[in-house]
Amino acid sequence: MADAGVIIAGLGKAKAPGFQVDVAIAMQNIILAATGFGYGTCWIGAFEQQQVKGVLGVPDDLEVVALTPIGVPADRPDARPRQPMSEFASLDRYGQRFV
Ligand SMILES: Cc1cc2nc3c(=O)[nH]c(=O)nc-3n(C[C@H](O)[C@H](O)[C@H](O)COP(=O)(O)O)c2cc1C
Repeated sequence: MADAGVIIAGLGKAKAPGFQVDVAIAMQNIILAATGFGYGTCWIGAFEQQQVKGVLGVPDDLEVVALTPIGVPADRPDARPRQPMSEFASLDRYGQRFV
């Protein structure tokens, strides 16, 4: 993260219902767009709320939902294996497999 060109902090109004979802959607769009331009990102949820707020001067009524560095990736590893969708996706009714 220290080497990344920028680190984006996604902030939400802590009293607004569903603010974490709203911020997560925005962050995901930023991450997808950055990835499309060839940059590397990483969703960061492991941080000290008060520490990050202090560094950035974030007002009390806002909460940091997530961070992501955006930078030129040092390497481009192969995609990791994925659990087949047939093992967890349902059609029409929970647990009804379709593949
Ligand atoms: C809620 C959440 C929090 C995460 N926090 C961190 C983090 O603090 N540090 C980190 O290196 N990656 C973090 N990640 C990224 C994951 O380590 C992983 O790279 C990403 O979810 C893609 O994993 P996958 O290829 O197994 O789908 C987080 C992911 C999620 C969903």
